[in-house]
Amino acid sequence: MRTDELKRLLSEMSLEEKIGQMIQIPGYFFEDGHLTGPALEMGLENDDLYLAGSLLSVIGAEKIVSLQKTFMEKQPHHIPMLFMADIINGYRTVYPIPLAQGCSFDPNLAERCASVAARESTASGLHVTFSPMADLVRDARWGRVMESTGEDAYLNGEMTAAMVRGYQGSDLAEKGRIASCLKHFAGYGAPDGGRDYNTVELSPRTLLDDYLPAYQRAVEAGTAMVMTSFNTLDRIPSSANKWLLQTILREQMGFEGVIISDWGALFELLNHGIAADLEEAARLSIQAGVDIDMSSPVYPKALKKLVDAGIVPVELIDLAAWRILELKNKLGLFENPCKDASAEAEQKVLLCPEHRQIAQEAAEKSFVLLKNDGDTLPLDLHASVACIGPYWDTNKLKGAWSIFAEDEDCATLKEVFEKLPFPSIQFAEGCAIADPGTFIVAFRETKEIDFPDPEKALAEAVKLARSADQVALALGEHRETTGEGASHGNLTLPECQLRLLKEVAAVNPNVTVVFFTGRPLDIRAVQQYAKAILVAWMPGTEGAKALARVLTGEVAPSGRLSMAFPYCVGQVPIHYNQMRTGRPFHGDYRKERFFSKYLDIPNEPLYPFGYGLTYTSFAYSPVTLDQTALRAGETLHASVRVTNTGKRAGTETVQLYIRDVAGSVTRPLRELKGFRKVALEPGASQEITFEITEDMLRFHDIHMNFTSEPGAFEVYIGPDSTTENKGTFTLQ
Ligand code: GLC
Repeated sequence: MRTDELKRLLSEMSLEEKIGQMIQIPGYFFEDGHLTGPALEMGLENDDLYLAGSLLSVIGAEKIVSLQKTFMEKQPHHIPMLFMADIINGYRTVYPIPLAQGCSFDPNLAERCASVAARESTASGLHVTFSPMADLVRDARWGRVMESTGEDAYLNGEMTAAMVRGYQGSDLAEKGRIASCLKHFAGYGAPDGGRDYNTVELSPRTLLDDYLPAYQRAVEAGTAMVMTSFNTLDRIPSSANKWLLQTILREQMGFEGVIISDWGALFELLNHGIAADLEEAARLSIQAGVDIDMSSPVYPKALKKLVDAGIVPVELIDLAAWRILELKNKLGLFENPCKDASAEAEQKVLLCPEHRQIAQEAAEKSFVLLKNDGDTLPLDLHASVACIGPYWDTNKLKGAWSIFAEDEDCATLKEVFEKLPFPSIQFAEGCAIADPGTFIVAFRETKEIDFPDPEKALAEAVKLARSADQVALALGEHRETTGEGASHGNLTLPECQLRLLKEVAAVNPNVTVVFFTGRPLDIRAVQQYAKAILVAWMPGTEGAKALARVLTGEVAPSGRLSMAFPYCVGQVPIHYNQMRTGRPFHGDYRKERFFSKYLDIPNEPLYPFGYGLTYTSFAYSPVTLDQTALRAGETLHASVRVTNTGKRAGTETVQLYIRDVAGSVTRPLRELKGFRKVALEPGASQEITFEITEDMLRFHDIHMNFTSEPGAFEVYIGPDSTTENKGTFTLQ
């Protein structure tokens, strides 16, 4: 629709209609056109339903085509409905969780995964996905670290911008393209105590320099929507935070799209204690700039009263409604209200071989090899193997948010491995996936873990381990103990799994542990008893096949940690780009005091950001710089030569870190500023050169100006965030 026609439409709409566009109703709030219990409890009425501008979590081509027809008939100006849902790591073909995708250090792969997710979900009628999640995460106690691409602002920015490109392409109306909704704005990944929905306390400078850059990259990539987060910043909930939404998001970042609240977040302003009633919550939210109220009674029940009373100018309503109409227009919904919805297309694209292939590639590139003493991996296909653990015979390999996919789409590890040509392969569960008697509080059900005869299962497993040449243990946390609302005070594996590990290792030294998790865990015991450790995260639809190829050496692991594995939960929040402090410490933590350190544990994580092994080894030449001084407008080149010094082909992720040695405020010990993946045959080498420019060195200085400061800089280029392969230059 032409802009002038759209403006005319807005001018003809009643106030109720315009406010209706600002309301999002979840699918389970109505049945056959009538509101259900939760909606009625919320005080919604049928008119709210038919005037609503968007629906949440309604999927399926036939259903959406039928609903769109019904809603448009009842909408006074026949305005099409927007259909939105959480497609965060694939729709029906499911990819590794975003934290695992971050470990691929492959933005192009993330873009391809997003494109396929868009193709599948639009065939099922969707128009918007609540992805990418760009929250920086440093605390594995928070269950939602699985939805982030990790602890580094630069990596997160690369990955989230790539996802926006993959979802949206260059034209939202194009077939197979979906609008992205960046979330959760802002700082949601830093809740006190790692406890979901809790208070976030960040200094303005930490917020601006560490937490906002990845959101900014997604805005620059053109995300159509942004979702406000549940948390407070400086004791102000994001949905009522005018500084955050207007000054930062709209004015500084230049975001012109639609701002939607998170689920019920406007109503939560009452719980936060900053709104006494629905009217106050509505006033605070519309004045802060929230365009759409997701699943709350605030806009439906209070906004019109405020306008009628002259408390809220109608211009704010017009502006919000206009943004929403613009989004519908960019999606082409006025000409084609059902966009790509087609039962025939669903049959063709959902889980098609091409999509499964990308899912397998994404899984293979997301696994991280943490340990491989004595080249225990790859498994020896000419030797017997005992496959033990609760993750061998389950198809629950998809992340917790894969809500539109079927577990039946996933093969189990056992189904794939029993086809491999091992001379002998035997399976035993060994123990439960969580300690018997514990409760798993899943999205919609709570169940108690029941495991009839643990001693018998353990004995059977140990018997197999004793007689096999090699053991592959598949362990991990229960899928439903990660994701939203899944905060943990402890990060260890279940006791029953640790006991299985110890008893198996006691009878067979050749133990490989593959573990499935949505977060970094305290795996000191795994490190102690296993010779090889592979992190599989939650690998998605093709996870089993991908694991078979990596564990047998058909393809080498190439993932690098997007988030550190802490030594123990006492270290978190932990991240590599910390400040030096006035009492920096390096050395034996058991023998020193009066430094910034612990008496009982080391400062260093068990496995740091950027770390990962493969089935070969690489050597780095010293860093060379083509000049020792850099001026604004110039480019300095930093190079290394990387050589494959092993016997197998492998892919290295060469990482560039820069340290600003001194500043008007303290500066991180180092920050990731670039990375390059390089595939090398045995004996081959390649020169890798990074360009360094002044704008890469900017930060918020003592006056909060975003600028660089002259002085000494250190350049580190190596295999992970602990590399000491260093060069130096000065910024003039
Ligand atoms: C949830 C999540 C958010 C999601 C939304 C819609 O509470 O916080 O990430 O997109 O609701 O499902």
